[in-house]
Amino acid sequence: MINERPLLAGVCGFPIAQSRSPMLFAHWFDEYGIDGHYVPLRISAEDFASTIPVLIRAGFRGLNVTIPHKQAALAIADQASEAARAIGAANTLIFHEDGAIEADNTDAFGFLVNLREGAPEWVSEAGPAVLLGAGGAARAAAHILLEEGVPELRITNRTREKAEELAHHFGDRVTIIDWEDRSDALANAALIVNSTSLGMVGKPALDLSLDAAPRGAVVTDMVYNPLTTSLLAEAKARSLKTVDGLGMLLHQARPGFRAWFGRDPDITPALRARIAP
Ligand code: ATR
Repeated sequence: MINERPLLAGVCGFPIAQSRSPMLFAHWFDEYGIDGHYVPLRISAEDFASTIPVLIRAGFRGLNVTIPHKQAALAIADQASEAARAIGAANTLIFHEDGAIEADNTDAFGFLVNLREGAPEWVSEAGPAVLLGAGGAARAAAHILLEEGVPELRITNRTREKAEELAHHFGDRVTIIDWEDRSDALANAALIVNSTSLGMVGKPALDLSLDAAPRGAVVTDMVYNPLTTSLLAEAKARSLKTVDGLGMLLHQARPGFRAWFGRDPDITPALRARIAP
């Protein structure tokens, strides 16, 4: 049919060359025999709002958005999921046929599914969670951990004011620990989450002593390049359960694929091997 919308979506950011999403979607297109296209779009912050209507007219079914567009993406949407509203940012836009734009934030979903898959023994009620960092990724983790019912969320961030903003936004189960005291924050923690960029290739390592971490604690890192960060290596050396960050990247892409291409894609070992750094 001539007027049918193409099987077309993309990821929009600035910069964008580093995105692994096109490779991920290409794998799923191959896997499911879908003749789809998923393109990287380098769009600056000032061009974002004016580009969206053009993409809709060009037939796009939706977009993933990354830095610096996650807040702007929520702002332009006609409707937003509860997660996007609670987090205050969107990473997935769905362009409906009637012209409506729906925003979702699937980072929280990706974080939780990855954590549950990697550490099925973790239960939210087991004890406090410690969150290192207070950026966009931290907001997604904070939202879902509180929704899952962690009794306490200890946030520690180099810039204390940003941790305070999160505490203000997410309520009284959040406590703030000074960045200098981050290693002490691990006492009786059931979960330790790195959402800072420390440990990523080209960045300094995260300087965190795990001495105070209880034996049953689960340690997860949102950094996935390298797959085994020095934090995870140190946790493994202490026989703590670890969960790497690659699964979060893979799972957060699933809801978009499903909305645009009609199928909930699988995360397989072959996919992990293809996308792993
Ligand atoms: P994202 O969306 O991935 O969370 P971000 O919003 O830029 O990215 O957040 C990066 C996080 O890493 C922040 O918590 C940042 O701390 P600040 O709020 O103090 O900037 C943290 N971070 C980055 N470099 C850091 C460093 N050298 N030392 C400590 N924290 C760092």
